[in-house]
Amino acid sequence: MQKYSQVMSDFVQNHATGLIVAFTAGAAVLALRRWMAGGVCRSKVRLEGKTVLITGANTGIGKETALDMAQRGARVILACRDMTRARIAADEIRQQSGNGNVVVKKLDLSSLQSVRDLARDVQENEERLDILINNAGIMMCPKSKTEDGFEMQFGVNHLGHFLLTNCLLDLLKKSAPSRIVIVSSLAHEKGRIHFDDINLDKDYRRERSYRQSKLANVLFCRELAARLQGTGVTVYSLHPGVIHTELSRHLYPTLALWQKVIFMLFTSLVKSPWEGAQTTIYCAVDESLANVSGLYYSDCAPKTPAPQALDDAAAKKLWDLSASMVGLA
Ligand SMILES: NC(=O)c1ccc[n+]([C@@H]2O[C@H](COP(=O)([O-])OP(=O)(O)OC[C@H]3O[C@@H](n4cnc5c(N)ncnc54)[C@H](OP(=O)(O)O)[C@@H]3O)[C@@H](O)[C@H]2O)c1
Ligand SMILES: *[C@@H]1O[C@H](CO)[C@@H](O)[C@H](O)[C@H]1NC(C)=O
Repeated sequence: MQKYSQVMSDFVQNHATGLIVAFTAGAAVLALRRWMAGGVCRSKVRLEGKTVLITGANTGIGKETALDMAQRGARVILACRDMTRARIAADEIRQQSGNGNVVVKKLDLSSLQSVRDLARDVQENEERLDILINNAGIMMCPKSKTEDGFEMQFGVNHLGHFLLTNCLLDLLKKSAPSRIVIVSSLAHEKGRIHFDDINLDKDYRRERSYRQSKLANVLFCRELAARLQGTGVTVYSLHPGVIHTELSRHLYPTLALWQKVIFMLFTSLVKSPWEGAQTTIYCAVDESLANVSGLYYSDCAPKTPAPQALDDAAAKKLWDLSASMVGLA
């Protein structure tokens, strides 16, 4: 009988090339996965006595963010459009965090009436609001309109949050120091604001619309931070990374079979929702950001956004346009 070590050494000699290739490929995948995972929020800050409101918190990174806030002891409000899914998420978060102070409230960002109703509920029934997290989002849907006739992605990702934030500013100021976190995306880098055709009526393209809405998020953060100087309310926008969530629900069905296969391989490498929530959590709680406002973050670190996201004149123009569209002007 051959010794085990002899068998091993024969195997290695006979399959040397294959082993090297397999090992290199394995190491490359691990390195890629590690690189994809990005930064982690290391802050141990507790949030007892604080209130956090998160939009779109029934799934994806919003739900992970809500769980983290609950684990830190905050009162957490999940503002969601689907109350059944929201209640299931709230149950899970209460159970996993051991924090019973997790509530759901109805919010459909594609309806200005729904936004106003939620804001009134919060103003009337909440004593404070310490952290507002504008997380909900829709990506690359077919051409469609919100209840008020706005193009869907701009309406939900930007205008709904624009109105919500403005309606909650008094409560946030009363609760200062307080924070507003706006979940944007790397997709803003290829975006531009189509001031002459904001609803993209002339030529709707789903990726153009998503990019415009995510650029609007970064510009809104800048202008809002400028307006809130000296109030103790600070504002942050961010790219959460590429994460395996339900965000691709409109994109996936439009892919060809081979694209679907690549897409599924890709999703096994990208960030998990927990990893994807880290930059949001960092902007919401990290002590080092207490006196910073208006900046853009990625992987738990500041990042310079695209040049068109640093255009203060455009930020002001977008504010005025948004205010008139939602009836705040
Ligand atoms: N995943 C990524 O790779 C990635 C990359 C860059 C940026 N982001 C940003 O991260 C944020 C969260 O996305 P995610 O990846 O966690 O996606 P997700 O799993 O699809 O979650 C999106 C959330 O937004 C909610 N939502 C959609 N339309 C709404 C509306 N009209 N009113 C109220 N809530 C609405 C959804 O509610 P329902 O469950 O009821 O639909 C869901 O709770 C988005 O702003 C997205 O743009 C994500
Ligand atoms: C923020 O500013 C306050 C007041 O000036 C100061 O007490 C605090 O140490 C600053 N925090 C940080 C993280 O810089």
